[in-house]
Amino acid sequence: MPDLILPGLIDVHTHLRVPGGEHKEDFATGTAAALAGGVTMVLAMPNTNPPLTTPDALAAALRAAAAGARCDVGLYAGASREDVTHLSGLAGQAVALKIYLNDTFGKLRVDDLPTLAVCFQAWPRERVIALHAERQSVAVAIGLAAVYDRPVHIVHVSRREEIELIADAKGRGLPVTCEVSPHHLFLSAADAARLGPLGDMRPVLGTAEDVAALWAHLLGGTVDCIATDHAPHTLDEKRGPNPPPGVPGLETSLPLMLTAVADGRLPVERLTALMHDNPRRIFGLRAQPDTRVEVDMTPWTIPATGWQTKCDWTPFAGLTAGGRVRRVVLRGQIVYEDGAVLAVPGSGQVINGAGLERD
Ligand code: NCD
Ligand code: ZN
Repeated sequence: MPDLILPGLIDVHTHLRVPGGEHKEDFATGTAAALAGGVTMVLAMPNTNPPLTTPDALAAALRAAAAGARCDVGLYAGASREDVTHLSGLAGQAVALKIYLNDTFGKLRVDDLPTLAVCFQAWPRERVIALHAERQSVAVAIGLAAVYDRPVHIVHVSRREEIELIADAKGRGLPVTCEVSPHHLFLSAADAARLGPLGDMRPVLGTAEDVAALWAHLLGGTVDCIATDHAPHTLDEKRGPNPPPGVPGLETSLPLMLTAVADGRLPVERLTALMHDNPRRIFGLRAQPDTRVEVDMTPWTIPATGWQTKCDWTPFAGLTAGGRVRRVVLRGQIVYEDGAVLAVPGSGQVINGAGLERD
């Protein structure tokens, strides 16, 4: 008997690197990592090369996902000034729209108000707009939600002042949701110094006060989702002259969150809300029938290598995890068991804009 049975987890923030970054990850390896982490549905980001900002690029990525995915995959469309005229043509194919207000890996960035206004007017209002927003950009994101009276989802919130502003916005009834990534909960600036490039991501790791504020708001209810921001880069790239920001996270997200469950800090119901119920509701994702994750609550030490992700490293090596995934069942099939990924490439389903619950 497993110690715990959870629904198939949904990760609304992964980077699966197709097209253009297949040496870091692809749909087959990234979704193998997902299943090993108890994640049966992922939403993949559009900061690929080329980025997913046109109907042709999105259609090609969807074909690659259909051929390679071992769990269910939906794609984000990306916003850019050059391709903003394509937006309405992307809505049928993408689950949500991603807008980068701040610099990070890849070239996607929107820093002009006219493009933002077009995005908020053209993107279907029942479909999520997700924003990478740091520092005062969080106020821009909340302002846009208020002006256009439509839902925005703020990704990987990392700082105390940001989560406090989001809490105030929610308190005023504004349609704002947010996610936090495990690295911002389990690592801090002190670890960044120890890890060097392996601890560098956007947003960067926060202070102890930032981490404490994120936990308080996670337990208090401001945080809607745990999202991995699984952002694989090779060790050679990370140790090279211009290390790109980003760390893998699909296989360690649930094990780390289980530490908080084992410590008695995080009720299982709240864990399920953060990693399944809220992601599903916010993005309008359909239920996966006969799908579950069986968990063993024996503590273990996170190893440096031996992962499903193509980049095969983790910034969490040496940390104690409160539990591990023993078996994953997706639509009645055992897709992962005791370290072995059993699902074959192409067995996952692709979720397009037309496959959402609210449409
Ligand atoms: C991400 C990546 O590598 O694609 N990097 C990161 O540091 N988080 C991009 C992003 O999510 O901002
Ligand atoms: Zn990301």
